[in-house]
Amino acid sequence: MAGPAGAPPTIDDVKLPTDNPNPFVRFWQSVWAPTTRSLRGWAMASVVVNAGITVTGAGVRVTASGLGCPTWPKCTPDSFIPVAHPEVSPLNMAVEFGNRLLTFLVLAVGLACVVAALRMAPRRVTVVRLAWLQPVGIVAQALWGGLVVNTMLNPFTVGVHYLLSSGLIAACWMLYARAGEGDGPVRAVAHRDIRRLGHVLLAAVFALLVAGVVVTNTGPHSGDEVASRFDLDIESVARVHADVAYVVVGLTFALMFALHVTNAPRAARRAALALLGVELLQGVIGYTQWFLAVPAALVLLHVLGSTLVWIAALRVVTSLRERDTQPASVSPSPTEAAAVA
Ligand code: HEM
Repeated sequence: MAGPAGAPPTIDDVKLPTDNPNPFVRFWQSVWAPTTRSLRGWAMASVVVNAGITVTGAGVRVTASGLGCPTWPKCTPDSFIPVAHPEVSPLNMAVEFGNRLLTFLVLAVGLACVVAALRMAPRRVTVVRLAWLQPVGIVAQALWGGLVVNTMLNPFTVGVHYLLSSGLIAACWMLYARAGEGDGPVRAVAHRDIRRLGHVLLAAVFALLVAGVVVTNTGPHSGDEVASRFDLDIESVARVHADVAYVVVGLTFALMFALHVTNAPRAARRAALALLGVELLQGVIGYTQWFLAVPAALVLLHVLGSTLVWIAALRVVTSLRERDTQPASVSPSPTEAAAVA
C-alpha cells in the first residue's frame, strides 16, 4: 500500500519500468531498458519462433511447396514477391513465400535479444555473445535456405536445414538460461555422474533428430516431385530411428531414477519428467504416422514434437547446474559508460 499523502515514499510508491500503463511503452522498454525478466522473455520468444519455423518449414515440405518459389533470393526469376508463374501453383507459391517472410519475424526477435543484451546493466559478455548467435544463425539459415532451393531440395541440404535450426534453438535456450543466472563458476546441483548422464542424453537426443531427418529425407514428403531422396530402405532407417528413440527413453528413465535416489532438486526432477512425457507422446505420434503411411498432419505434429523433445532435453541439462551471481566479465553498458564520461 502507498503511504499517506505528505509521508515519505514507501516501496509501493516506486514505479518499475514494467508498471507503465501504455503497452507500447512497456514493449519498447522491454528491449531498450531491459530487466533480467524481459531479456529472458525475449530469449523465450526466440525459442518459440525458432521452434515455430521448424514446423512451418515442414509445412512447406508436406504441401509439396518446396519449390513454390523456384529461385532464391528472388521468389521467381524476375520478382522478389510472388507473381504468376506458368510452372508453379499460386498456393504452393504462397506457402513457400509465407515461410520466407517468417524469417523476418525470427530475425526481429533475435535482434531484440541482441539489443536487450547490449542495454542490460551491467552488460554481460557471455549473454551478449549468446544473443549475437541468433541473428548470425538466422542469416546463415536464410543463406542455407537458398542452397536448399538451388539444389532442388537435395535431401542432405533439407536435413541440415532442420539440424541447424536445432542448433539455433540450443543457442536461444542457453541465452534464456544464462540470462537468469550469474557469471560465477558452474555449481553442480547433482552428482557429477548424473550431469554426465544428462550430457549423454542430450547427445542421444541429437542423434535421434539426425536419424529422424534421415527417415524424412528417405520418405515420401520431399517438398516437390522433382526432389531426389536418400537411396536407403525406408523400413530399415525408420527402424533404426525408432531404436534410437528407445535408447533415449531408456536414458531418460535412468536419469529420472538417479535424480530420485539422490534426492536431486525438484526443478531437475520435473525437467526430466517433462522430457519423458514429450518423448512418450512423440513415440505415439511416430508409430501412428508410420502405420497410417505418414499423413501430412501427423508429420507436422511429429516435427513439433521433435523440437519440443530437443528443448526439454536442453532444459534437463541446464537444470542440473547453477551459477552464482558473482559477475566475472562485464563491460559497461551505454548508460554506465555515459555516466562515467
Ligand atoms: C522421442 C521420440 C522421437 C523423436 C524426437 C523423433 C524425431 C524425428 C525427427 C526430428 C524427424 C525428422 C523431421 C523432419 O525433418 O521433418 C522424424 C521423422 C520421422 N519419425 Fe520420428 N522421432 C521420434 C520417435 C519416432 C518413432 C517411435 C517412430 C516410429 C516408427 C518415428 C517415425 C518417424 C517417421 C516415419 C518419420 C518420417 C516422417 C516424414 O516422412 O516426414 N519417430 N522423427
